[in-house]
Amino acid sequence: MPNSPSDPVRPAGAGASEAASGEARRVVMSRKGPMLVEGPVEVQLEDGSVVCSDRFQVALCTCRRSRRYPWCDTSHRDRA
Ligand code: FES
Repeated sequence: MPNSPSDPVRPAGAGASEAASGEARRVVMSRKGPMLVEGPVEVQLEDGSVVCSDRFQVALCTCRRSRRYPWCDTSHRDRA
């Protein structure tokens, strides 16, 4: 079963080479910030278009305030 408590926990930073070799890709969720995904990534948007990044880690906007959506541009920090 995926995500069962018996799944081994890997140390931070251990996933980059594993993602390249076809194993699990790490996604880091944050309550007040972007979703960090180990790259490279292809992101399919709601309209069906696809955007790509070959960075080793990308920050995907979860607040919808980014002017570079789906990429985070730190606009989530501007809340007053
Ligand atoms: S999460 Fe950073 S701009 Fe939306």
